[in-house]
Amino acid sequence: TSKTILLHEISKLNSKLDQWNPFSWYKQMREHNPVFYDAEQDVWNVFLYDHAKRVLFDHQLFSNKKERSLIPVPRVNNRSNVNFCDPPEHRHRRALLAQAFTPRSLKEWEPRIQAIADELVADMEGQTTVDIVQQLAIPLPVIVIAKLLGVPSQDREKIKAWSDILFYPYERETFGDIADQKARAMKEFQEYLYPIVQEKRKHPADDILSDLTKGEQLTDMEVVMSGIGLLGAGNETTTMLISNMFYSMLFDQPGIYQEMRADSTAIPKLVEEVLRYRFPVAIDRQVAQDTTVFGHKMKKGQIIIAWMGSANRDESQFANAETFDIHRPNNQTHLTFGAGPHFCLGAPLARMEANIALSTFVKRFADIRPVEAFDVTEHLIQSATGQSLKSLPICVETA
Ligand code: HEM
Repeated sequence: TSKTILLHEISKLNSKLDQWNPFSWYKQMREHNPVFYDAEQDVWNVFLYDHAKRVLFDHQLFSNKKERSLIPVPRVNNRSNVNFCDPPEHRHRRALLAQAFTPRSLKEWEPRIQAIADELVADMEGQTTVDIVQQLAIPLPVIVIAKLLGVPSQDREKIKAWSDILFYPYERETFGDIADQKARAMKEFQEYLYPIVQEKRKHPADDILSDLTKGEQLTDMEVVMSGIGLLGAGNETTTMLISNMFYSMLFDQPGIYQEMRADSTAIPKLVEEVLRYRFPVAIDRQVAQDTTVFGHKMKKGQIIIAWMGSANRDESQFANAETFDIHRPNNQTHLTFGAGPHFCLGAPLARMEANIALSTFVKRFADIRPVEAFDVTEHLIQSATGQSLKSLPICVETA
């Protein structure tokens, strides 16, 4: 257990609802405890925008080579792990993957993502209530990643199931069980991908796994692990973004759906504001040298967590930060995709998926409403970042 950091033991937020809406706790921390030491787990926590940014940019002081982490995934650290390393080594690892995410590759992906979204939205035809999470927010990213990697998209349920287990958060009481399940999922997933990668090395196709086998830089197992890493990084996160967009349109600013229908330039603004306003990301680093940069004595080897969901509501960066406002001028300066050398490689892809999901949806449906007696606590599931929606039934009106 000692190697995994349990976030809710730091926040002490116990109810599902408080974990879903941690924002008043964030505010309290920003105001009274912006640099907070959790003695039980020996972890520093920062909540202000400038502090969070410093943690992410200053890799000499805050290293991504860490002995403990809040990421609940069994870890390997070799050339396939783009995240758990620092520059200059990081540059080489990242460059290999980055080729897949150039603007040109993304341009090629756009029509394919559109086709997947069209199909998912067409399947809602004739329904008066749809479950946005199950029918759109989950399948879209899994199918996109499966295609991107070049694995059969009919295997998506298996892939999703493995990915859920790998990213499921640890609990202290059931730690051993969860660890066993994760080890099993990892083994099955590797055994599934390994022959696919071997095949790609012999007969490369137009996909990321094939690209990664070229040049003999990575072994087959390293390519397998890169694939699993991409899936992990890009699956649940994008599901959360798409789910939360609909939640925000219903509950954070009811009525805004009509603006999305009337003005397509409002859609990317909504995407950014949801990323800022409703996305409880936290990122960890290891203190690399004793330091007092944040006014307290931090010791080499301690872990520090930058609470992005809180930084994104810091009034010194965002005026009226607690208000949902898609028209704020600096709406892209949120830290939800991180910052500095490890800035999310998949950010343009995630943005594209979210934009296409919503623009496709608004063409088909004239309006959306919450279902009667909707109670969010019935629709939450524990996830790596706190609580996420496992379902979101909404009433739809056909255009
Ligand atoms: C890194 C968030 C979607 C691939 C990151 C980081 C964050 C993040 C915060 C930085 C981690 C750190 O500093 O240690 C998100 C969010 C997403 C999303 C909120 C969706 C809304 C995606 C997608 C992909 C992806 C779709 C690819 C398919 C990656 C990779 C890294 C990364 C490979 C590691 C980059 C590095 O360490 O250099 N992401 N991500 N992400 N993300 Fe994303």
